[in-house]
Amino acid sequence: MKKNRKTVSREIGLEIGSICGKYFLKLDHLHYGYWTKDLEVDITNVHIAQENYANFLISHIPEDTKKILDVGCGTGQIAKKLIVTGYKVDCVSPSPFLVGQTRELLGNSSHIYECSYERLQTENRYDVILFSESFQYINIEEGIKKTVSFLNPDGYMLICDLFRKETGKSNISGGHRLETFHNIVSGYPLRLIKDLDITEETAPSIDVLNDALKKAVHPTIILTQQLLENRYPFASKVITLVYKKKIDKINKKYFNGEKTGENFKKFKSYRLLLFKKTNSD
Ligand SMILES: C[S@@+](CC[C@H](N)C(=O)[O-])C[C@H]1O[C@@H](n2cnc3c(N)ncnc32)[C@H](O)[C@@H]1O
Repeated sequence: MKKNRKTVSREIGLEIGSICGKYFLKLDHLHYGYWTKDLEVDITNVHIAQENYANFLISHIPEDTKKILDVGCGTGQIAKKLIVTGYKVDCVSPSPFLVGQTRELLGNSSHIYECSYERLQTENRYDVILFSESFQYINIEEGIKKTVSFLNPDGYMLICDLFRKETGKSNISGGHRLETFHNIVSGYPLRLIKDLDITEETAPSIDVLNDALKKAVHPTIILTQQLLENRYPFASKVITLVYKKKIDKINKKYFNGEKTGENFKKFKSYRLLLFKKTNSD
């Protein structure tokens, strides 16, 4: 099935994030990170915040879990940690690029389903189905329906991700509406047994991003523009005119200074949600 434009842009965005994060900052993960109070909010500490997040997440895997399905496994780093801890882990990844990285990291220790979760078909059943910052990309209804059918009786759905609050429109993208999510999940045999709000601990990642956009990315773009105007004045004018709307949109989205931790806390809620299957189906 052909992927739509939005899905392709999102996938490529994540892949670029993975390449740049790894090359420039030695980052292995593809999630926000968990900033403890004693950790200085600085780009050089993102890898520590990401490790904190992975450890925090793993500490909430319920007892007696043996088999986990890591949906949207990114680079495979969380799956690797889970395998090292002693769990049997399979992965789902729709991105051929990220599948390549995961396969390199995990070898034969995990089965990787190379498809979107919505399209996954399997006879295998799991004790925990994990969505680490991947639930926001998945259709809620489809995702929950699949999860209920792939879970063992008494299995768990563990989601750690950001959601949208009811407070107007923000320019920080991502996340399902929290209320919509709860309304949909209430129609399925899943009981909420843990709900932790970690918005405060994840928000500093947005400040780090904003700082990088403001102090490195934006000045680089301005200087490149100046160079092009100097070398190719006519072509530069034409490009600026033709793409004015697109350029304005990019400026508004990335460089208007609104991508801040404060705004993240206002518009988003980052939650760890653990549901237990109730077997009333
Ligand atoms: C922000 S990354 C999180 C990666 C990883 N779980 C982590 O915590 O580092 C989002 C992941 O969701 C995956 N993803 C996006 N859409 C998906 C879908 N429809 N089904 C399954 N995975 C999806 C992406 O390929 C990517 O690996």
